[in-house]
Amino acid sequence: TWSAANIIDEQVEAIRKQVGDGKVICGLSGGVDSSVAALLVHKAVGDQLTCVFVDHGMMRQDEGEQVIAAFRDQFHVPLVAVDAEKRFLDRLKGVSEPEAKRKAIGAEFIRVFEEEAAKLGDAKFLVQGTLYSDVIESGGGTGAATIKSHHNVGGLPEDMEFALVEPLRALFKDEVRAVGAELGLPEKFVWRQPFPGPGLAIRIVGGEATKERLDTLRAADFILQDEIRKAGLYRELWQSFCVLPDIRTVGVQGDERTYGYVVAIRAVTSDDAMTADWARLPYDLLEQIASRMINEIREVNRVVLDITSKPPGTIEWE
Ligand code: XMP
Repeated sequence: TWSAANIIDEQVEAIRKQVGDGKVICGLSGGVDSSVAALLVHKAVGDQLTCVFVDHGMMRQDEGEQVIAAFRDQFHVPLVAVDAEKRFLDRLKGVSEPEAKRKAIGAEFIRVFEEEAAKLGDAKFLVQGTLYSDVIESGGGTGAATIKSHHNVGGLPEDMEFALVEPLRALFKDEVRAVGAELGLPEKFVWRQPFPGPGLAIRIVGGEATKERLDTLRAADFILQDEIRKAGLYRELWQSFCVLPDIRTVGVQGDERTYGYVVAIRAVTSDDAMTADWARLPYDLLEQIASRMINEIREVNRVVLDITSKPPGTIEWE
């Protein structure tokens, strides 16, 4: 019979067998898949594993600190945290087109990761949080080449010669969550909604992802998540996030004319992201979210709701 404990025992044994006394490296994003994969490998081979967390400056509020607190302080996993915000912001200067943004971020990510891997020397194994659904989608093949770049900002170059360790290959998402919970992974990681590798940059739509815009979007996103969690809806939603179009609109606050950013709220329910339905959030909740955003974020003077399902819309705006 299926149990998280059995899966853990099986995988720990399989990882030990595969890895022997070799060094292992893992790109940790803080998402549930890479987090659970890292914990399984750490349980199996302890400090033979080093995790690399690249903070590209496009993360949600407090995300980097949470990853470090959980993995380094709580689980004592050897963790290299790279603050690469400035590099990524420089690289994104003048880049507005969605695919160009994705490519720039993906390429920079690989460069940072390669540098860190080189510092670690002789790691022969790379952990990937590939799930059964990824295996199916990519035709059942093996190896890094089968992982769609769209879904994995850490899509690594082919000349990096790592053997892949993929302890989640047979698991569905809900099983990954159960294994994570059994391993003691904090709830906020176990239930984290999916988040795109290029992060907040692809939610600044029609313009450049500057530090100022990222900070504005991050603040709006934080309020949205906070209210959705307080309303007890976080787990019911596949994703809930904000989008910041590169436009300003006119408003009035007090006696003053304002000219500020418009924030769009995007919340969807879905089983697999292939199709999605816009979430019917309660009006009172929407009201509370909108008024907090406008009152607490100086740059924002208007909030709108995205009521497009997928298809015809995609979940992200770009
Ligand atoms: P769309 O917008 O195509 O998104 O409906 C489907 C799912 O994929 C996520 N997504 C990405 N994930 N890199 C990623 O790692 C990306 O470039 C990317 N674009 C979209 C999206 O958040 C949703 O869960």
